[in-house]
Formats: sequence, C-alpha cells, structure tokens
Amino acid sequence: MKITPIGDPRQKVTPALLREKKLHHEPISCLTAYDYASARLVDEAGIDIVLVGDSLAMTMLGYENTLSVTVEEMLHHTKAVRRGVKKALLLGDMPYGSFHVSAEEAVRNASRFVKEAGVEAVKIEGGEKRAELIRCVIDAEIPVAGHIGLTPQSVNVMGGYKVQGKSLTAIEQLMRDAVALDRAGVVCLFLEGIPREVAALITAEISVPTIGIGAGPECDGQVLVFHDLLNLSFGQPAKFVRHYGDGAALITQAVQAFRADVGSRQYPSDAESYHLSSETREALETVLERKQAMRR
Ligand code: KIV
Repeated sequence: MKITPIGDPRQKVTPALLREKKLHHEPISCLTAYDYASARLVDEAGIDIVLVGDSLAMTMLGYENTLSVTVEEMLHHTKAVRRGVKKALLLGDMPYGSFHVSAEEAVRNASRFVKEAGVEAVKIEGGEKRAELIRCVIDAEIPVAGHIGLTPQSVNVMGGYKVQGKSLTAIEQLMRDAVALDRAGVVCLFLEGIPREVAALITAEISVPTIGIGAGPECDGQVLVFHDLLNLSFGQPAKFVRHYGDGAALITQAVQAFRADVGSRQYPSDAESYHLSSETREALETVLERKQAMRR
C-alpha cells in the first residue's frame, strides 16, 4: 500500500487516479468544503476529493434540510472553494430540482458547475432510474459521481433520514442501482446510510471506487461533512460521525476571550496599534500646542 505522507508533493487527483487507488486498495479520503478557507485547509492536508455538498444548505445556510438550496447558492460557494483547491478532485453537488425535470436541464445545470465554478465532476443523487440521465451528462463531457442509499434529497419519500438497504428486496435494488451507475460510467459512487455488509458487496461488485458515509469500513473511501468532523453541526450527531476536533469549543472560547478583552480594554495593545513616525508625531504635537496657545 502506498500512502503519500502529509506535506509531500502530491499528484493532482483525477478520476483515473481514484480508479488506480481502488485497484491498489489505497483508501480514498473525501471531505466537504463550502468556502475558500476550509477548502484550502482540506486540500493542503492531502484529502483526495473535496465535495461542495448540498449539505451546505444546513451547515452554512441554516436550512432544515437540503431541499431548498438553489443552483445559484451552490455555485456561489463552489466558486469560492475552487479558488482554494489545487490538488484534490473538486466535486460539485447538483441540488434538488436541478436535474429532476429533464436530461436537457440536467446537462445545462451541470455545465454551469463546470463553466462558472470550475468543478471537475458533479454529483447526482439516485440509482437505476437516474442512470440514463447520468449518461447524458457524461456524454456532455462532464464526469459524474453517483450517490445511492440514504439520499437526503429523497427525505420526503423515505419518510425521514432512515438507513436504507435493510431487507433482501432493498438490497437487490441497491445492487441494481450500483451496477446501473457503474455501467453508466460514474467516476465513483457515494454510499450513504446502508449496512456495512451491503456496502461491502457493492464495493466488491463494481469497478469504480465506493465512498462511504455511514456505510462501514469496507468502502474504497470515506467521506465526512466538514462541520461534523469538527463538531460545528449542532444537534445530535449521526452514529457514524466521529469528531476529530472541537471547533465549537475552540470558537466559543476565542470569541468569549475577545469579548472580555474588549470589555476590559485589554484589546488592542500598543503593540497591536499603528503609530505615527516620530517626525510626524512631533510635528503634530507642535501644531496642537500652537492651537491650544491661540485658544488661551
Ligand atoms: O451533501 C453532502 O455533504 C453529501 C455527502 C454527505 C456525501 O452529499
């Protein structure tokens, strides 16, 4: 197994490199990012795929679910992320409604992600029934990542965020979904909220890498939402979420310390202030003294 240590010069991540990683059993890392600063940090830490997920509806915009985020909002964030990502593969998430009306509209919206925001691939939720549409987007020279299992854009149909693929019929459908998308030519397949046994079967069956979230360790790669990784999501985390840092505690502590320093005039200090040159200061003092003398 080859793992490039953090800090080493890295190759640009491409769909071909992801396939190579699958062939060599090298785990693929993916994180979401929604702005320039987080994109730079994630990219420079050596993450393989940066996904501008429609989860930004909740993490960045405070919506209740992903359904209301628009193409314009997604593009706004994706452009900022593009400026921060140099080596990772940049994926843009097609939001709800942007590919559901027709293949033509899907291609038009996907091409906006490429032309206006510079993504290298788009992600489209849905299985077998989206395979034809995904083929049309790929035919328009736009690589596509698939996403099956617990697909958040189907929350109303699923009746909540429920683990999928628990019955034999559901497992068969998931296998059909995975194979249909593999045949359609996706660059990778996101598996969300499914039993690890089912994710392992899919990973062994298809030629492209699987990237899991709540899908167990047998996937070819793993993805987490940036805000979940850093405890910035509020609310009860899902079972699969591991906090790798406490961003909420860090930010709260820093903000409270700033507020206290402002309140006690400890901030800014003299060293944190700009100063006049001694010449200008002396000249200013002379002017002020003269003015005072004239007032007397
Ligand atoms: O929007 C998102 O962040 C996603 C990942 C959870 C895969 O789709």
